[in-house]
Amino acid sequence: MLSVKHLLGIKELKTEDIALIFKTADNFKQVLQRSIKKVPSLRDTTVANIFFENSTRTRLSFELAEKRLGADVVNFSASGSSVSKGETLIDTVKNILAMKVDMVVMRHSASGAPWFLANHINASIVNAGDGTNEHPTQALLDAYSMREKLGDLKGKHITIIGDIMHSRVALSNIYCLNKLGAKVMVAGPPTLIPKHIASLGVKVEHDLKKALQWCDVANVLRIQLERQHKPLFSTLREYALYYGVNRDMLDSLAKDIVIMHPGPINRGVEINSDVADSRQSIILDQVENGVAIRMAVIYLLSGKRDLDQQV
Ligand code: CP
Repeated sequence: MLSVKHLLGIKELKTEDIALIFKTADNFKQVLQRSIKKVPSLRDTTVANIFFENSTRTRLSFELAEKRLGADVVNFSASGSSVSKGETLIDTVKNILAMKVDMVVMRHSASGAPWFLANHINASIVNAGDGTNEHPTQALLDAYSMREKLGDLKGKHITIIGDIMHSRVALSNIYCLNKLGAKVMVAGPPTLIPKHIASLGVKVEHDLKKALQWCDVANVLRIQLERQHKPLFSTLREYALYYGVNRDMLDSLAKDIVIMHPGPINRGVEINSDVADSRQSIILDQVENGVAIRMAVIYLLSGKRDLDQQV
């Protein structure tokens, strides 16, 4: 059983919670290999996916996870909804819950929105990304994918590269990898790395080559131009020149490292195609594992206990 009622952030999870989510995801990965990729565990449960921000991977992955658990699913997008008529977040969610919805998966541009909601409703909430704060299921699927490739993450070197300042993926990854005993470095230009970040127990590096030489895994992040309210580097071309991960740089290392990216990718900016699509890349494994991880999270939060009979 998880120690939490909601999955708001990795910060609130115990290491045992992460282990239980991974063990449950292992079982659901087996289910997803079958010709019939479904179990009826949540056939009496309705989940609402409430997205106030754009998404491709997270939204589809949650919807598939819910459907593969047998749940009824409703999807809400802020665009085209009554939010444009002035309806508040709380009113929107209370109205959705009045239609007998049991669980809410929410993405919101405001950091802290899922915590605010958790104080006002009874249903379980899963944070699908809040502003620049946390993206817990992304960090869980990232760590699960690293573990699948490298085994136990204790002592493994993971470098997170790019726009750390505006990245909820970076923060959730740091919390998760710290709890799993990995050693974490963040790398990028000084303007994209928060000054306090070393207090989270991570190394900081501004030289990309040194950062890649140090790590077993490089998790490359997108430049989040939509969250930057003033210029933080000269041009995307200059960023790509100093911080873009390219084939020549990987070939110059004394070892093979694993390449990850949470998506969406800006090819030719933070990563080149001959890296993103190479045999070192596990980017699509991350996406595949996202469904099993989200099935595990939703199943465990639902309080169901029938998994052994289903697998
Ligand atoms: N990784 C991720 O959150 O992608 P989306 O924004 O497409 O959901």
